[in-house]
Amino acid sequence: MDLLHKFLNIVLLPITLTVLLLFMPPFLFLKFLWSLKRSIYRENVAAKVILITGASSGIGEYVAYEYAKRGARLALVARREDRLQAVADRARKLGSPEVVVVRADVSKVEECKQFVNEIVNYFGRLDHLVNNAGVSQICLFEVFTQFSDIASIMASKAALISFFETLRTEFGQDIGITIVTPGIIESEMIQRFSQQNKKEMTQGEFFSEVQANWIPTETTEGCAKAILDSTCNGDMYLTEPSWMKAGFWVKTLCPEVFEWCVHSLFVIWPWTSKKD
Ligand SMILES: NC(=O)c1ccc[n+]([C@@H]2O[C@H](COP(=O)([O-])OP(=O)(O)OC[C@H]3O[C@@H](n4cnc5c(N)ncnc54)[C@H](OP(=O)(O)O)[C@@H]3O)[C@@H](O)[C@H]2O)c1
Repeated sequence: MDLLHKFLNIVLLPITLTVLLLFMPPFLFLKFLWSLKRSIYRENVAAKVILITGASSGIGEYVAYEYAKRGARLALVARREDRLQAVADRARKLGSPEVVVVRADVSKVEECKQFVNEIVNYFGRLDHLVNNAGVSQICLFEVFTQFSDIASIMASKAALISFFETLRTEFGQDIGITIVTPGIIESEMIQRFSQQNKKEMTQGEFFSEVQANWIPTETTEGCAKAILDSTCNGDMYLTEPSWMKAGFWVKTLCPEVFEWCVHSLFVIWPWTSKKD
């Protein structure tokens, strides 16, 4: 077995790289034609049933409006029911023929099972699940006092991507899964970071501050529209804004450079520590 590993260590990487080099140009061309076809025959979501978690604010709220403009029926889930009702009212005005609101906490498995059953029973079907509700945290590791503070965040981030990639492999073509990796999107979440890190700074001031530090933010509307287009095209992944994909390439090909850039931006030149 050792011999086999030694043999594979020597030959497999060069063979793979050679095959990739030969295969990539025709593959990329076919992929381009395929994406062109999908954008022409984009999924029509009119009258379809869409369940959106975390629809009471931010990205989830604006995704609800985008679906509403395209005539979809909506089930909106979050903990703040008053906010959900306001989103539902606006979604109806924008063109959604039917909107229901469900107050639930997605961190409780029993509540998730219950609202999914309720929604499927009510509409008799479920076409899209927008698994958007989530929490995040931007601060230095040394700020945390105990691991339990970050455990739920770690489970809700990279673990989710791996989970849905595995699920997609399992489902094959039967169920489409679009994994979205947003950049910095204007939302309540970003505003909360500003309050943690910059005390009394307003949302507008905080975005200006981020932009002044060369990380352009994207509007929630723009992000929501990109999510809808990408989902209806049946894309596997969406990075929004798309220029942020450059970071993935640098990270994969030159991890040292990527790490140095991130360290410089967030630690050496930190807007987080300007509170002092
Ligand atoms: N904004 C960004 O720059 C950015 C970047 C990368 C990823 N993301 C991800 O995008 C998603 C949406 O974030 P956002 O920026 O739109 O933030 P947001 O404005 O804070 O919205 C978060 C939504 O999730 C809901 N939510 C949170 N915990 C919940 C729970 N336990 N049960 C039910 N609903 C819950 C909140 O509603 P209630 O409080 O009413 O329950 C709210 O509607 C999150 O998963 C976030 O991690 C955002």
